[in-house]
Amino acid sequence: MELLEGLQTRRSIRTYTERPVTREQLHEIIHAGTMAPSGMNNQPWRFVTIQSKETLQKLAQFTKYSQVIGKAAACIAVFVDKTAMYHEVKDHQSMGACIQNLLLASHGMGLGAVWLGEILKSAKEVRELCGLSNDMELMAVVALGHPAGKGGTASRKSVEEVLIREM
Ligand SMILES: Cc1cc2nc3c(=O)[nH]c(=O)nc-3n(C[C@H](O)[C@H](O)[C@H](O)COP(=O)(O)O)c2cc1C
Repeated sequence: MELLEGLQTRRSIRTYTERPVTREQLHEIIHAGTMAPSGMNNQPWRFVTIQSKETLQKLAQFTKYSQVIGKAAACIAVFVDKTAMYHEVKDHQSMGACIQNLLLASHGMGLGAVWLGEILKSAKEVRELCGLSNDMELMAVVALGHPAGKGGTASRKSVEEVLIREM
């Protein structure tokens, strides 16, 4: 898939078939995440993959999007390593770039994925479920699997609406 085509056709996918994803696929997606740019190349991202049905059910309890996690073949919990940070804003920007890469890689591999942010309200519980220390701060959970349907049609503002000045 061409890069531009991929980023224009990616949509959040919230329903998945029963088909599992492989460990190799998850590693490939995470590898794409690690290819994101980061300030001073500090690469503050850390990941936990969750494929166990039992653990997915526990994770699902921490968000109102429990049905998404309940149907997902896997989730990737994305953390920023606070001990690796050097600038709060820039490190969070790096994390956003990383998470977007996870979504684009999933899409490019024919999988469907969605960025779950609402679950951050239970960041501590997710971190503890993952068995991590306070050094790790949850940035998002990406739920993914083989798409059971098409994504939404969330519209976008036109370039004319968002380009506020051409100087
Ligand atoms: C920071 C962030 C948090 C999000 N949190 C959620 C979420 O908790 N649940 C959900 O279903 N989608 C979530 N999304 C996905 C957005 O709803 C979605 O990207 C947006 O509606 C545009 O649709 P599209 O991704 O299909 O183009 C989140 C996206 C971002 C970037």
